[in-house]
Amino acid sequence: MSAGLPDRYAVAGNPVQHSQSPFIHAAFAHQTGQAVDYGRLLCPLDGFAEAIRRFASDTSAGRVRGCNVTVPFKFEAFALAPRCTPRAALAQAANTLRFDTEGWLADNTDGIGLVRDIECNAGVPLAGRRVLLIGAGGAAAGALGPLLDAAPAELVVANRTLAKAENLVDRHRAVAGAAALSARTPKDCGGGFDVVINATASSLQGADIPVDAAVLRAGCLALDMMYGPAAQGFMDWARRHGATTRDGLGMLVEQAAQAFALWRGVRPETAAVLAALRERLEARSR
Ligand code: ATR
Repeated sequence: MSAGLPDRYAVAGNPVQHSQSPFIHAAFAHQTGQAVDYGRLLCPLDGFAEAIRRFASDTSAGRVRGCNVTVPFKFEAFALAPRCTPRAALAQAANTLRFDTEGWLADNTDGIGLVRDIECNAGVPLAGRRVLLIGAGGAAAGALGPLLDAAPAELVVANRTLAKAENLVDRHRAVAGAAALSARTPKDCGGGFDVVINATASSLQGADIPVDAAVLRAGCLALDMMYGPAAQGFMDWARRHGATTRDGLGMLVEQAAQAFALWRGVRPETAAVLAALRERLEARSR
């Protein structure tokens, strides 16, 4: 029986223990007065679909209404739902599932979260700007459609494996609008961008920065989609070359707010939650 119990959600991934999503969604629930219980779901690498189905059908502690999905299951999550939003279809990856009785819905709120963080939190409008997106994996796939929706003058996708960038770009041609959209290798992606976004795992691996510093226009915004130590290498490099830097924490909170709105029909305020999250992580690292 689930009457009177909060609706349940979780972040599903492997690993998932580090995820800040339970903190963020608890803050949103408190702020909006929604009865929500949000936990973590560690899924076996070879058993994602089964773990999600089991979670969704568990009525023991309240109705399970949806989940967020993180690495490495975003492509599998997309394939699991019979219905999807247009932005999830473009990405072919999902970070949000809603367990509707008429059929599960897959969404991808990463890209809109990134755009909101750049435009609303960092105060950098993307319209008419030159944007470089480094990487062509799951993280870049979620970002490209919403970045194009923001009407940049140019968008270059640069990836070590050029064919993956070309594939991503080809899939997005129809939504590029007036933007000049192209796929390049990191060593051949031109220079002087207004916004440079790192969607690769290079900092995490301690690898060299894949692009030349010429990509950074003086005073440009350089954003790494990761946060904490995983973003540090890229951010230190960009700062040394005159960029304003930003980690992925704002994107994380903004994508969560979009997911919360999809599930609950109410959009939470993000500024105070982002500040509290940053403080929490800084306190932990001291
Ligand atoms: P995610 O879901 O986090 O995007 P992914 O799908 O495995 O993870 O994609 C990782 C991305 O980081 C890819 O674009 C990858 O480049 P390749 O497609 O050439 O593999 C990129 N990447 C990972 N390590 C890198 C490195 N050391 N230098 C440059 N790019 C790297």
